[in-house]
Amino acid sequence: MKPKPIVRWPGGKSRMLKHLLPMIPEHTCYVEVFGGGGALLCAKERSSVEVWNDLNGDLVNLFRQAKYHPDALCNELDLVLNSRQEFFDRQPPYGLTEIQRAVNWYLNNAFCFGGSSKTSYGYSRKSGGTSTASRGNRLEAIRNFSQRLDKVNVEHLDWRDCLKRYDVEGSFFFCDPPYLTGNAKIYSPWKPEDLMQLRDELVGLKGKWLVTICDCKESREVFQGFDIQPVERQNGIENRAERKRNGGQFGELIVASR
Ligand SMILES: C[S@@+](CC[C@H](N)C(=O)[O-])C[C@H]1O[C@@H](n2cnc3c(N)ncnc32)[C@H](O)[C@@H]1O
Repeated sequence: MKPKPIVRWPGGKSRMLKHLLPMIPEHTCYVEVFGGGGALLCAKERSSVEVWNDLNGDLVNLFRQAKYHPDALCNELDLVLNSRQEFFDRQPPYGLTEIQRAVNWYLNNAFCFGGSSKTSYGYSRKSGGTSTASRGNRLEAIRNFSQRLDKVNVEHLDWRDCLKRYDVEGSFFFCDPPYLTGNAKIYSPWKPEDLMQLRDELVGLKGKWLVTICDCKESREVFQGFDIQPVERQNGIENRAERKRNGGQFGELIVASR
């Protein structure tokens, strides 16, 4: 089984891999600055040095437990029922150990509607919902993911610090910051000023980079004069209103260093 992200993450890049994979330049040090679920990390070939970074402490904890304690994580998860009761019982305050905290947070992400709700249990009347998901597949996915993280450095840094620490000739930074539009509940949207700061830091780097961002007027203005490729991808489940508006398509820009 190929490693896949073990969390459902708003803005996750699984639907953009066909565009992104061919655009990764030659490099020795791969850095996912805004790591999220790590869709591109899972899909790409391994590099000599790999870094996954995110500011979300719960997500970082889950990645650390998946990397270092996959068996303990799977043992805890092995006893879990796919049920509405379990979903509400495991809301914060989380358990005592970091493994239990990771388990509860993981289950919230797996069991809720859309990946980020604390109040909606994601049941379904058809196949594919939480209540019919396979426990065996879940455990196998975690073990695979753990293997993928084996030599990945899991960081918990603000993006500026992450760029600074890993910038050498041969570095490649994949930057997928929060969108300026959208309604992800699990992290805050960015403002055009944030994107401008990122752009200004990127142009001074020794390493190469790719940025993905929502296709809107503000993003286009920030990256005016850069090498921009507009692409369309299918919308995620959390954007039902948007889905209706654009027939399920969502525009993104891929901006590449020269
Ligand atoms: C669009 S998501 C990344 C999705 C990811 N590429 C994937 O495939 O799942 C943006 C991520 O940036 C993280 N983030 C927000 N502010 C940050 C900051 N100041 N430094 C580092 N990461 C940050 C969020 O926690 C979120 O996981």
